[in-house]
This record gives sequence, C-alpha cells and structure tokens, in this order.
Amino acid sequence: MINSSTQLLGVIGDPISHSLSPEMQNFIIQKLGLNYCYNAFHVIPSDLEKAIESFQALNFKGINVTLPHKQGVIQFLDEVSEEARCLGAVNTIVFKNNRRFGFNTDVIGFLDSLGEFRHSLKTKTAIVIGAGGSARAVIYALIQDGIGEIKIFNRTTQKGEKLKSEMISITQFDKIYSIPPTMNDLTNEIQNASILINTTPIGMHPEVHASPVDDEFLFPKDILVYNLIYNPLETKFLQKARSAGAHIMNGLDMLIYQGIESLKIWTGVEIETEYLVPELREYLIKKISGQTRY
Ligand SMILES: NC(=O)c1ccc[n+]([C@@H]2O[C@H](COP(=O)([O-])OP(=O)(O)OC[C@H]3O[C@@H](n4cnc5c(N)ncnc54)[C@H](OP(=O)(O)O)[C@@H]3O)[C@@H](O)[C@H]2O)c1
Repeated sequence: MINSSTQLLGVIGDPISHSLSPEMQNFIIQKLGLNYCYNAFHVIPSDLEKAIESFQALNFKGINVTLPHKQGVIQFLDEVSEEARCLGAVNTIVFKNNRRFGFNTDVIGFLDSLGEFRHSLKTKTAIVIGAGGSARAVIYALIQDGIGEIKIFNRTTQKGEKLKSEMISITQFDKIYSIPPTMNDLTNEIQNASILINTTPIGMHPEVHASPVDDEFLFPKDILVYNLIYNPLETKFLQKARSAGAHIMNGLDMLIYQGIESLKIWTGVEIETEYLVPELREYLIKKISGQTRY
C-alpha cells in the first residue's frame, strides 16, 4: 500500500521500457513488507544532470542507473565507492544528507550468482567474451575472488587490449591476456579454461539465432559456460554448451543478486536470500517467458 510515508526508488536508462527491475524490486519489497516503491524512468543523456537533481529534490532514497548512464552519472555524484571508481561505472545511487553516493553492485551480483561454482574457480583460467562495461565488472569480480588467469576474447582486438591494460593497471593483477578473435584461438584456449563467460549481447532477444561462437565450436565437457544474457533464458550459446555436457548459467541470477545488493544499500535491511531468490527466480522466469520485449 502506497501512502505518504512511502520511500521512493527507481531506475533510469535510455531505453528503459525493457527493464525487469521494477517487477523484481517491487516483488522483494512486498515480500519483505517494506514501505518502498520502485519505478522506471526514461532519462536521455542530455537530461541526466537535471534528472539527478530532481530525484534528490523529491527525496528519493536512491536509484539504479543503467545504460547508457553508468559512466556519465559519476560527474554528478559527491562520492563513489572504491569498486565504482575502479570500474568507472555506477549502477546504484543513494541520496542521503543532501549528498549523492555512487556504488556498483554488478561485481557482487556476478560473484553471488556463481553459487556452488564460486570457490572452485580460484586459481583457474577464465575466458571472457567481450570487452565492454559488463566484461569489466566480471573481470574485476573474478580478480577479487582469486582467479588464476583471464583471457579476453573480443571482436575488436584493440578494445580487448585496452581493457587488458586498464584492468592490469587498476588491479595490479597481471595475468590478463587478450587473445585473437578467431575460433581456432578460442578452441585452443578453451582446453585449459574452467569458465567461459559471454558478456556480449550476441544472441539476446530478438536475435536469438546468433551466437558468439561458431556452430562447429566444441565446448569441453564439465566447463562452466556463463551467459550474462537472461532473455532468452537459454540462448543458442547455452543450448550448445548444455548439449556438449557443460554446466550452464544465464544472467538472471546476476540481475537478481545485484538488485538485492542495491536494495540492501538503500534500506539497510539484511535480506535473507535462501527462500527469496528461488521464488523471485520463478516469478521472473514467468515474466521473461511471457514477454517478447527487448
Ligand atoms: N545479467 C545481468 O545482470 C547483466 C548485467 C550487465 C549487462 N548484462 C548484459 O550484458 C550484455 C553486454 O552489456 P555491456 O554493458 O557490457 O555492453 P557494451 O559495453 O556495449 O559491450 C558490448 C561488448 O560486446 C561486443 N559485441 C557487441 N555486439 C557484437 C557482435 N555482433 N559481435 C561481436 N561482438 C559484439 C562489443 O565488442 P566491440 O568491442 O568489438 O564493440 C563489446 O565488447 C548485454 O546483453 C546486457 O544486457 C547483463
């Protein structure tokens, strides 16, 4: 029930109509009986500063920030967390005492989503497909968690090289390599890898027949194949990996855990995930299966 004490939350992006965050956050808010309300707001880049000022003036407790504002919003904040500063990207803002604080919950969201696999990855090799904003968060997370080495496989080699150099300089972890973007190279490198992560949008709805790897690509049995995409839940990339006997994971749990972390930051409430996450997952799977948006 919304009343005059209801605290306001939201997400800004451009576009924003595809976002599952309002359904997800309001589901959690209701389950926990919190007096909060979460909405989506379409904000174009030229209105970003005005929008941030407005949320603050209207006493919003906080907002999530999605594409294309994750980097651009930093200049309008008073303080950013260590993680957000290292990544150069903020996805969560808190308004408090007339100040604006920025956080990045993608890192913890990715790590929490790994579940039982998380500890088995220490000292192992990871291959990351893509070199954009989410690849950056994933690489940072893997390094925080003690990965052995990381290979970046990206369409544009210079961008892969640039991300490699930046991540080495930010983290001082120097076992990051950029590999040539050919299937032969990926086939060779995958033999020693424990996890292969797609951070590109290839295969996302409606381009569901696309895949970041060729049809002939052989996934080793028992490797963990992770796709940050969650619509569709099982992309062509994940279908092929599953058929080959690999463990597969889509991006839904990352979305869920980063959202839970944002809500914890805003409300200060400890959120018990044991029962909440399976219920929320089921709820979002129904939403995704029933929609053809994106
Ligand atoms: N599950 C979650 O919670 C979560 C969180 C964040 C992001 N995501 C998903 O992750 C995906 C990427 O997001 P992002 O923010 O990292 O995007 P981004 O910054 O735009 O980066 C996209 C990357 O994908 C590559 N790429 C794009 N189209 C390609 C194509 N047709 N062929 C080969 N490479 C291509 C780009 O390569 P170049 O460098 O060559 O341009 C770039 O490296 C999106 O699908 C997003 O929805 C999910």
